[in-house]
Amino acid sequence: MMHDELSVVIELIYPILSSQYFMCRYTYKLGHKLFNGSYVWSGMYSFKASPYPGQGSLQRVVIFGDMGKAEFDGSNEYNDFQPGSLNTTYQLVKDLKNIDIVLHIGDLCYANGYLSQWDQFTAQIEPIASTVPYMVGSGNHERDWPGTGSFYGNMDSGGECGVLAETMFYVPAENRAKFWYSTDYGMFRFCIADTEHDWRPGTVQYKFIEHCLSSVDREKQPWLIFLAHRVLGYSSADFYGAEGSTEEPMGRESLQELWQKYKVDIAFYGHVHNYERTCPVYQNTCVRNGSHHYSGPFGATTHVVVGGGGASLADFAPVRAKWSYVRDHDYGFVKLTAFNHSTLLFEYKKSSNGRVHDHFTISRDYRDILACTIDGCQGTTLAS
Ligand SMILES: [Fe+2]
Repeated sequence: MMHDELSVVIELIYPILSSQYFMCRYTYKLGHKLFNGSYVWSGMYSFKASPYPGQGSLQRVVIFGDMGKAEFDGSNEYNDFQPGSLNTTYQLVKDLKNIDIVLHIGDLCYANGYLSQWDQFTAQIEPIASTVPYMVGSGNHERDWPGTGSFYGNMDSGGECGVLAETMFYVPAENRAKFWYSTDYGMFRFCIADTEHDWRPGTVQYKFIEHCLSSVDREKQPWLIFLAHRVLGYSSADFYGAEGSTEEPMGRESLQELWQKYKVDIAFYGHVHNYERTCPVYQNTCVRNGSHHYSGPFGATTHVVVGGGGASLADFAPVRAKWSYVRDHDYGFVKLTAFNHSTLLFEYKKSSNGRVHDHFTISRDYRDILACTIDGCQGTTLAS
């Protein structure tokens, strides 16, 4: 669309008072300019201004991967394998008044080169994406194609090579062909990695990840969240198990030291189409037992696979590791609620009925995050 054909009119700005903060709500409509100079206008939409980094208001974040799209009338289509997609979308629309931001961490619509399916997907999520920030990560179905610079040489993007994803969605990346970026939302810092490009030590992405994790002021933004499409942490997926593994090759090998050092609260992944939550785990070992409530000093990062947004489900391997605390072979999504700087609620909800199936809370003082834990601070020697 040519720039002069699109105009956005902000019709109304008024402050909504909360006890501590002014929050602006913007009402807007989109217009398409015709050749005769007249406009065709959309209906009215509205969104509220995001909280500033560190702001202490109520903040609710929805996270999932691998949703895709489906036809409401049940008709067949190419790439028709996301049966949970409409349920997930429905639950989010239903609860939209209680959602502030959405993070869809890769495998967005599974168009795989059939561009009309992007229109179908964006129409499906329009009620959500027109109202709250709809932030995306890149997955294999957005990016991978042989010989085009993707880390994996498979054909999962159907030749899109990330072009559609970076055109349809804005992300604040330095180079939008590389989908890693950080974004702040009130008390949250999100570090979003791009597993379709190399993340190992020595790469630009590794430097970005360390910078994103290390540069946040945890007193103001205590909730530090790492996200990526493929599982760089822990998963009991049977297809990893078949390779004798519980992650992408070279996944957590180098990154786990960063998560531990910078005390990442929760790491989220998609790609595996189910739900799984670990205990706080470091180097394959539970530093704390799995629980529904954590308080006191940081122990280790909790890893969560939340790839059951809609695409056909993945099975778990028969052997269960000690770190695998809660599993669900079903469609669902995660909702994080930060009530303040010391209380975070995690909920995993089923897409079929919106009910909470797993949950935990973290209660703590920011000073605990700043203190040293296992490998959490630079090592010292007698000489130092
Ligand atoms: Fe994927």
